[in-house]
Amino acid sequence: MTVTIVGSQLGDEGKGGVVDLYGDAADVVARYQGGDNAGHTVVHGGEKYKLSLVPSGAVRGKVGVLGNGCVVNPETLFDEIDTLRERGLEPDVRVAERAHVILPYHRALDGIEEDEKEDLAAGTTKRGIGPTYEDKAGRRGIRVGDLLDPDTLRERLEYVVPQKRALAKEVFGADPDEAFDVDHLFETYREYGERLAEEGMTVDCGTYLQKRIDDGDNVMLEGAQGTSIDIDHGIYPYVTSSNPTAGGATVGTGLGPTVVGQGEVIGIVKAYLSRVGTGPLPTELGGVEGQTPDYDGDQGAGEDEEELATYIRDEGGEYGTVTGRPRRVGWLDMPMLRHAARANGFTGLAINHIDVLAGLEEVRVGHSYELEGEEVLTMPPTTEKWGDCEANLKSFDGWADVDWSEVAEKGYEAIPENARTYLEYVADELGASIYAIGVGPGREETVVVENPYE
Ligand code: GDP
Ligand code: IMO
Ligand code: MG
Repeated sequence: MTVTIVGSQLGDEGKGGVVDLYGDAADVVARYQGGDNAGHTVVHGGEKYKLSLVPSGAVRGKVGVLGNGCVVNPETLFDEIDTLRERGLEPDVRVAERAHVILPYHRALDGIEEDEKEDLAAGTTKRGIGPTYEDKAGRRGIRVGDLLDPDTLRERLEYVVPQKRALAKEVFGADPDEAFDVDHLFETYREYGERLAEEGMTVDCGTYLQKRIDDGDNVMLEGAQGTSIDIDHGIYPYVTSSNPTAGGATVGTGLGPTVVGQGEVIGIVKAYLSRVGTGPLPTELGGVEGQTPDYDGDQGAGEDEEELATYIRDEGGEYGTVTGRPRRVGWLDMPMLRHAARANGFTGLAINHIDVLAGLEEVRVGHSYELEGEEVLTMPPTTEKWGDCEANLKSFDGWADVDWSEVAEKGYEAIPENARTYLEYVADELGASIYAIGVGPGREETVVVENPYE
């Protein structure tokens, strides 16, 4: 069977940790979208692993697959594999031949266009994600399978690179370097193809995964990013260029929707909000320069809110896994979560980071929005309207900081009562049951209520 792990907010909900938690029962962990814009943290044996491309299951010796819906930067891929090997692991990673390749000109153009866009910039990770998906849709992309076929690789590069060069130079006034040089790219990427072939890493993803399922193996589908930065269901244009939502798990792996739908879809929820990037955020506390729109050091919210934001940011370690950027933080946004529950059809929830909120006198959530004089319970379809939404906040009594490892050992009833009230409110509103509660970064710091593979 399959278990699909989906971010239900804006990314960084703790997906890597949940993949690690349930991954024990999985034989294969496949990513279905995104690329090295992701930053998934797994804490294992006191060691912290930060993975941007290799699926999180690799830390525990599972086969990791990068599905056809991913965009793959071979340089990052091999760097990550080599680093894991240096740390004594033996990652077994397969890459879909249908996955698209991120080339140096994609990364260069991502940076150039972000600078150009000003207010429309999403605050991307500058990993070339958007430009690579653009080329995929424009039918001028280069796929992993092409790296193994020098004639095709050369032909594709000769078509596309002069266009990219002209774009960089004539449209954006940049000075194209070797990232835009056909011969250099051909040699470098042909070599990546040779290494992929030598290590037997390429697969026909859907066929491979279906066979594993037919053989009785458990497959985990690891989403990156989150529902509200999905290109279709997120806060366009401040989104990533792929579909983190559960539908992406079928398109991005080649498994049928009925196969994925017979399994479980677990929504990963952070007990508050964090956001790296731009665009509105109705439940934001304080702000972050360069990300919060029109931020001038004080959102009119006053020092208390800024202090609270700093407290949550520091307690939660809310600094980008890949980029180190401080993340924006806010109260839980229930309309966002109702939207995610519908778009993904969650069968279960994992709610993380309740330990981070411990010690606060009061914990608030955006229960609904006030928009044009009406109360709305889910996200409006345009980001402009979302920006006009005022959150109607609901207040919960806070819970004390306790020995969370002990709580994890004892189980659900050991969670402080006020925190349980909070968790049960979220589950009730979303109509999905709680499978796990994160009470700290380590796998042992999780209260497991349900194992989806059992
Ligand atoms: P992902 O992108 O969804 O995999 O999440 P990230 O790894 O980017 O960010 C989550 C961060 O929170 C990581 O540093 C995790 O180790 C940490 N984390 C995950 N779950 C919990 C939790 O329940 N409590 C605390 N305090 N930290 C957690
Ligand atoms: P994980 O998997 C949080 C955000 C970027 C930017 C927008 C587009 O760790 O949850 P991109 O580089 O994808 O074109 O950037 O999406 N973003 C993420 N935010 N977590 C992530 O991944 C993200 N991946 C991209 O900050 O606003
Ligand atoms: Mg992350």
